[in-house]
Amino acid sequence: MPNDSLSHSCAPSELKPFDLDSSHDHGYTHDHGHAHDHGSSDTCSANELNEEVAAISDVVSSFLYYKTYALNGVIYRRLKYVDELTEHHRAIVSSLGVIDKIKAAENLIRENYKLMLDIVYASSVGSMPDPADDNSTFKVWLKRFFEAREKAGKPHVKDGHMNKLYGTMKLFVRDWSSDGADERRQTYGPLLEALEDEFCDLAPEMRGSVRVLVPGAGLGRLAYEICCRGFSTQGNEFSYFMLFASNYILNKSLKEGQHVVYPYVHQFSNVACVEDQMRAVYIPDALPSNMPFAATAEFSMAAGDFIEVYSADDEKEKWDAILTCFFMDTAKNVLEYLDTIWHALKPGAIWINLGPLLWHFENVEGEFSIEFTRNEFLCLVAKAGFLLDDKKFRESVAVPYTADSKSMLQYTYNAFMCVARKPK
Ligand SMILES: C[S@@+](CC[C@H](N)C(=O)[O-])C[C@H]1O[C@@H](n2cnc3c(N)ncnc32)[C@H](O)[C@@H]1O
Repeated sequence: MPNDSLSHSCAPSELKPFDLDSSHDHGYTHDHGHAHDHGSSDTCSANELNEEVAAISDVVSSFLYYKTYALNGVIYRRLKYVDELTEHHRAIVSSLGVIDKIKAAENLIRENYKLMLDIVYASSVGSMPDPADDNSTFKVWLKRFFEAREKAGKPHVKDGHMNKLYGTMKLFVRDWSSDGADERRQTYGPLLEALEDEFCDLAPEMRGSVRVLVPGAGLGRLAYEICCRGFSTQGNEFSYFMLFASNYILNKSLKEGQHVVYPYVHQFSNVACVEDQMRAVYIPDALPSNMPFAATAEFSMAAGDFIEVYSADDEKEKWDAILTCFFMDTAKNVLEYLDTIWHALKPGAIWINLGPLLWHFENVEGEFSIEFTRNEFLCLVAKAGFLLDDKKFRESVAVPYTADSKSMLQYTYNAFMCVARKPK
């Protein structure tokens, strides 16, 4: 289990990482009740709860430590190197505006930090005071937070967590900005098309009783798009980075482009011009509170581990469709994912999958991982009993993942898409 995640499904409602009662919420609640229901708190050991508190604290700490970490790693280090140049070289570098560029980046990191604080604050974790209201109260709270971690022998930021935070900023672009529109069209487009194809006989206003599940929903845009097409939709996530950020965007956005993020400010390689690196990205590009079929289609996010939540008895044959996007390769043992999908789907229902096979645990020391080729994966799907739709299979779909469209470096996955049905 990655250490930023819910390790089991009972804790979220215990810990209330989000303020579900907030009157500002649009009601797209992260359905903690749901996760809770699948592992009653009675069965939650004190150890498990402690683990959960520790996981939340680690993630919160990354958000709170972002400014110090980024300023040290991105800004002060560079300014020091400029200082170490010979006078002649420094004069040349300075004449190009390189020092001004670094200082501009410093200001943008400070802007990003405001967003990071806002995200944590919106998640109502612990007793965090409003960072905007009373600066001194907040500073005292912040000092105590880090003192408590130090006392407990905890680092300010756990290994890999800051990369996850930088990644979360890029996911805002993918899911909730107009800059991400092309990436979404390429990636979510084929999945949505296949779903619409399946239910083409039903007008959007008649689709509310069709229940669609999106495991590993990330920041929730695919789930939102499905709901906008009239389906009752649930996204499922277990990473607190994702849960905090999706809660923020889904529940705390009052107008389009309300929030601003500078996701590329930390990256000085493969940059064509300063404007590219420093560019602002405004989110959200669509208002989650404006769901066209809100009267008939329900929307929710369920926090918890996919296997734990959806292999429970009361999830048996509940879902009319499951859509997985860049998700199947997050499994340590994908057979368990297949079993869970099978269990959760109604007989005759479909599973639509698109993604590469970048097995997430392949090189994680001490973690179980079993990897399959795409062809082996397809055999596993068939052996699990699913009927693969040969006509809808796509061997290669070129898709980026959180790409910086202006960067000189571009990654494209040759992902595959498969559509499978649980027999009636
Ligand atoms: C590669 S990301 C893809 C996110 C999103 N589907 C997209 O396409 O942008 C995989 C996501 O699955 C989530 N995830 C991984 N394992 C999970 C599990 N067992 N239960 C729930 N979510 C999981 C991760 O936290 C991450 O957000």
